[in-house]
Amino acid sequence: MNKNLIKLKHVSKVFKVGEENFTALHDVSLEIDSGAFMSFVGPSGSGKTTLLNLIGGLDVPTTGDIYFKEEGLSSMSREQMARYRRENIGFIFQTYNLLPVYSVYENVLFPLLLNGEKEKDVQERVMDIVTKVGLESQAKKRPSQLSGGQCQRVAIARALVKDPLLILADEPTANLDSENSLQILELMRELNQQYQAAVVFSTHDEKVTRYVRREVKLEDGRIVSDKNNINGIA
Ligand SMILES: Nc1ncnc2c1ncn2[C@@H]1O[C@H](COP(=O)(O)OP(=O)(O)OP(=O)(O)O)[C@@H](O)[C@H]1O
Ligand SMILES: [Mg+2]
Repeated sequence: MNKNLIKLKHVSKVFKVGEENFTALHDVSLEIDSGAFMSFVGPSGSGKTTLLNLIGGLDVPTTGDIYFKEEGLSSMSREQMARYRRENIGFIFQTYNLLPVYSVYENVLFPLLLNGEKEKDVQERVMDIVTKVGLESQAKKRPSQLSGGQCQRVAIARALVKDPLLILADEPTANLDSENSLQILELMRELNQQYQAAVVFSTHDEKVTRYVRREVKLEDGRIVSDKNNINGIA
């Protein structure tokens, strides 16, 4: 159960910017265990988001390969890649990325409809997760009627509802005050333990750093340290 949900082997990412090439990731090799609770840290521009996007199959490496449970992402067709994302990965973003015209309930339901489920079969599951993140009484509201912390809870519920093996959270607490950040982290830790989903954050937030069990530091697209956090609260 423990080892190697994700493995990166010598991954580089080069972006073309006009005539120039810009290397955002240099030769990154890394393993992520199933059940991980870890973060990528490092200065702005160090490559954290780029790395999350590659792991989540939103973008492809320029060289090297990424393996999901031993299966190379580079050998997947576009359709297989889309299915990989839909079935295995939950994304949480700094700006929540909720669908503005849908209610909380519908935002959480949406990924299941995309996976071909019928609403009547999953209604209860959706409401269970909405309740789990503390939004039972807000289920009919739209995102514009919620606070930032509540929006991030919807995003967490939406990421979790399809029971993903991996949750990728790109600076999930960046727009939240301290108290809401801590509540979100507590919730993520609980979900990591209860639902057995690996959670990988990118963050500048020291509160996140104190929570995680492992911290991988990037500078200029390179891993400069990879430490287990024995004091991690999680
Ligand atoms: N599509 C792109 N085209 C060109 N350059 C890009 C592209 N995406 C990212 N970059 C560059 O790659 C580098 C890494 O960007 P990335 O977004 O991964 O950094 P980050 O560590 O997430 O930063 P932040 O903490 O500000 O979110 C940056 O220098 C950025 O300008
Ligand atoms: Mg980023």
